[in-house]
Amino acid sequence: MNKLVALILLLQNSSSVSDNLQANQNNNITRPTSNRISGPLRKSPLENFQMRYVLDSDFHFTFYNKDHPKGIEMLKDEHYKNILPQVFPDKPVRFITHGWKASCKAGFCTELRDEYLKNEDNQVIIAEWESLSNEIEYFEIVEQTGEFAVIFSKALTPVVEKVHGENVQIIALGVGAHLCGIAAELITNTTKMKIGRITGLDPSWRSFEIPIYGLQKSQATFVDIIHTTAGSSGIPEPRGHVDFYPNGGIVPQPGCRRRFMRFALDKCSHNLSWGWFKNTINSQPKNYKMGYRCTSGKILNIFYCNFNDVTPFGQMTPASARGVYYLEIKKWPFPSNRKEFNKNETKKIEVQSRIKELRFFLCL
Ligand SMILES: *[C@@H]1O[C@H](CO)[C@@H](O)[C@H](O)[C@H]1NC(C)=O
Ligand SMILES: *[C@@H]1O[C@H](CO)[C@@H](O)[C@H](O)[C@H]1NC(C)=O
Ligand SMILES: *[C@@H]1O[C@H](CO)[C@@H](O)[C@H](O)[C@H]1NC(C)=O
Ligand SMILES: *[C@@H]1O[C@H](CO)[C@@H](O)[C@H](O)[C@H]1NC(C)=O
Repeated sequence: MNKLVALILLLQNSSSVSDNLQANQNNNITRPTSNRISGPLRKSPLENFQMRYVLDSDFHFTFYNKDHPKGIEMLKDEHYKNILPQVFPDKPVRFITHGWKASCKAGFCTELRDEYLKNEDNQVIIAEWESLSNEIEYFEIVEQTGEFAVIFSKALTPVVEKVHGENVQIIALGVGAHLCGIAAELITNTTKMKIGRITGLDPSWRSFEIPIYGLQKSQATFVDIIHTTAGSSGIPEPRGHVDFYPNGGIVPQPGCRRRFMRFALDKCSHNLSWGWFKNTINSQPKNYKMGYRCTSGKILNIFYCNFNDVTPFGQMTPASARGVYYLEIKKWPFPSNRKEFNKNETKKIEVQSRIKELRFFLCL
């Protein structure tokens, strides 16, 4: 019986290999030899669409630590092992990557890197695939989720083996969060080590509506998620060990209200997720922004929160924290809000929602 199953699997694999060969005749880009690992299988929405395959060479991994503030490129030809002599074992590694139509050269990745490197212990890997992310359509990423995951995991595995999985935190934006979640799963499957933490910054919703696809709790010891476009571009429901919903997590976030176009509202609200997170990386306890633990009803915009049950938002969230947290962020720097916590009551918070009209409008 098992042999039969294996045979069927083999046959399926060989047919997908010949599909790949077919594709290569039209398009001489060589597809990575991996098969799809996970993620929804969907037909391309466009007939005869020439899918741009994901290649190792589309990715640039750069390693930074206190001895190498300018970074060392991790070389594919050396299986990304050329940096290993520079990696401090038992020191944290933060692996940062962006999402679709996003940049890493300025902004998100570099600002987070600089924040982490203020602490001499931190080591950072930036995974940049900007030219690819600007060239391809969202569904092409979804179609090739497995290939992305293989490429990320190949780069990260040698480092995980050196520093130990628990010392690794992945921080990823939008669809990047899903790709990294699956990469983390692959790493665990090959090294038997679990990644310590995955921070998903406003993970995308479209094509990842079903919780078993993409980022989920089982992929790391601690998965924390910040929602800023819940129910429009971003996943609405909690999927981490901890889920923060700043201002209720929904569009429009503060400062984005004046933009009248929906696209701009989503984009602006999505972008806020990383700036808020960045500001917590080196924050001191007196400046911690606290989230209130809540239960959310079936309707996303209603939270029942206990103002006495709090946990720090962002990088400082302890790995022991669990549940859904609401917080208000109007501006930075955060005023310390500790004084508010002498109440022991559950309060209903209702956030004005525009979910229906924004649903599926855009994915980032
Ligand atoms: C594809 O083929 C053309 C012509 O044979 C060649 O110039 C080009 O470099 C190839 N592209 C890749 C990515 O191999
Ligand atoms: C990891 O291994 C588990 C158990 O064998 C399997 O169910 C899962 O699909 C694997 N994950 C990936 C991304 O291959
Ligand atoms: C995105 O957020 C960053 C950090 O908060 C900010 O500096 C930048 O101006 C924002 N970009 C856009 C397009 O809103
Ligand atoms: C707050 O409420 C909890 C649960 O209802 C209770 O156990 C605790 O003693 C209360 N704390 C204070 C300070 O009233």
